[in-house]
Amino acid sequence: LAGARLTTIEGIGSGPEKLHPVQRSFVLHGAVQCGFCTPGMVITATEFLARQPHSDRSEMAGAISGNLCRCTGYSKILDAMENVAEEVVVPEHLPPPAPRACSPAAASTAAGRAVFSPGSMAELWVILSDHPEARVFAGGTDLLIWLRGRRIDPPSLINLAKIETLRGIGEDSHWLRIGAGTSHAALLDDPRITTMFSVLSQALQTLGSPHIRRMGTIGGNIVTASPAGDTLPPLQVLDAEVELCSVAGMRRMVISDFILAPGKTALRPGEILTAVFLPKPADHVFQHFEKVGLRSAMACAIASLAAVIGVSPDGRIESARLAWGSVGPTVARIPAIEAALIGETLSRKTLESVIPLVATGISPLDDVRASTAYRRLVAGNLLLRLMKFAPPSAGMQAEGLPMEKSL
Ligand SMILES: Cc1cc2nc3c(=O)[nH]c(=O)nc-3n(C[C@H](O)[C@H](O)[C@H](O)COP(=O)(O)OP(=O)(O)OC[C@H]3O[C@@H](n4cnc5c(N)ncnc54)[C@H](O)[C@@H]3O)c2cc1C
Ligand code: FES
Repeated sequence: LAGARLTTIEGIGSGPEKLHPVQRSFVLHGAVQCGFCTPGMVITATEFLARQPHSDRSEMAGAISGNLCRCTGYSKILDAMENVAEEVVVPEHLPPPAPRACSPAAASTAAGRAVFSPGSMAELWVILSDHPEARVFAGGTDLLIWLRGRRIDPPSLINLAKIETLRGIGEDSHWLRIGAGTSHAALLDDPRITTMFSVLSQALQTLGSPHIRRMGTIGGNIVTASPAGDTLPPLQVLDAEVELCSVAGMRRMVISDFILAPGKTALRPGEILTAVFLPKPADHVFQHFEKVGLRSAMACAIASLAAVIGVSPDGRIESARLAWGSVGPTVARIPAIEAALIGETLSRKTLESVIPLVATGISPLDDVRASTAYRRLVAGNLLLRLMKFAPPSAGMQAEGLPMEKSL
């Protein structure tokens, strides 16, 4: 948070005489019961409504999807938001954040640990060579959890978020280049991602919550290499490549070679992930991502499926790339299924014929979120459910799409 301005609930309004309009609306509409979630709800609602006062109820529900309320059932909170939307302004009485110098010498400390914030790649290489044991981070949405849980204990940290060149999206005629420090929210705001790479944007919409998507980065999601990392199945079916840099130079590799095991990548000491390259897809490919979790927002995947399928004008499958998440140590591709689909029409019968092969290509865990058997069931049904989402031009008929159909 170095250099950031932080507004707590007291900065929005406090005390019966100083309630902010959003707080008054929460009281009027019965949106407060035990009150445990209320400060977070009010802050999230205030920030969102000040930015997007003309939103509809479903957009408001999306905005608060990262805030859990165990009492109200959310509908009264949404009533309160709808009825105050146009009155909301963010309190402006706080001073702007003071500009901070960012140089290798300008380290701050957090819990007794030095935190460096380089402003350029040149500064980063100097810090990394002076502090080879330091751990880099971008949004910190994974790293802070591990620090708090004492799963890691690096002597110092390097914040990549101030390095401008690690963020943003560029393109040439063949590739889109995404800086590793680009946030999930920035990707969702870019029409090139939502139109050309809809399998990725659909996955990003399910990742965490608006708060997590604003802080978390694509680079962090890749390097975490979680079996449940939501960008990994789409990046695999899009044939993404990663760019890795160190003071010694740069190298590039396909993402399937980069992710080695849960939490393990091909990054070498002193190297960071600088960018992700996506080849521009051919026209006429159907892209789809679906994730099943324990709830619809802020849920880790129990199983997910990313699909990029090329279909000829007469409805025959010309190319098929399918990748499952959360059903094995790394993303599962099943070459036998992809090969079996080529030349077939995209129909329920075709998909049912390859369902038995799904079980042979996945090795799901039995854990607190789901049993192995349930994950197997969902992995197969996600494939059948492609029919629900394929455009009519892909020749599919959407009949009977049970999530409960047995493998
Ligand atoms: C409440 C909550 C909900 C979440 N929900 C989801 C979800 O639904 N789906 C999902 O996939 N994830 C989820 N996550 C996990 C996390 O938000 C994502 O993985 C996010 O993309 C991580 O990005 P970051 O920038 O915050 O990574 P950081 O925490 O900054 O870093 C993560 C790891 O990557 C390394 N790293 C980061 N950037 C680089 C780089 N450029 N080069 C080399 N190493 C780097 C760090 O050293 C660290 O090991 C959730 C997290 C939280 C806290
Ligand atoms: S009012 Fe009790 S958790 Fe929301």
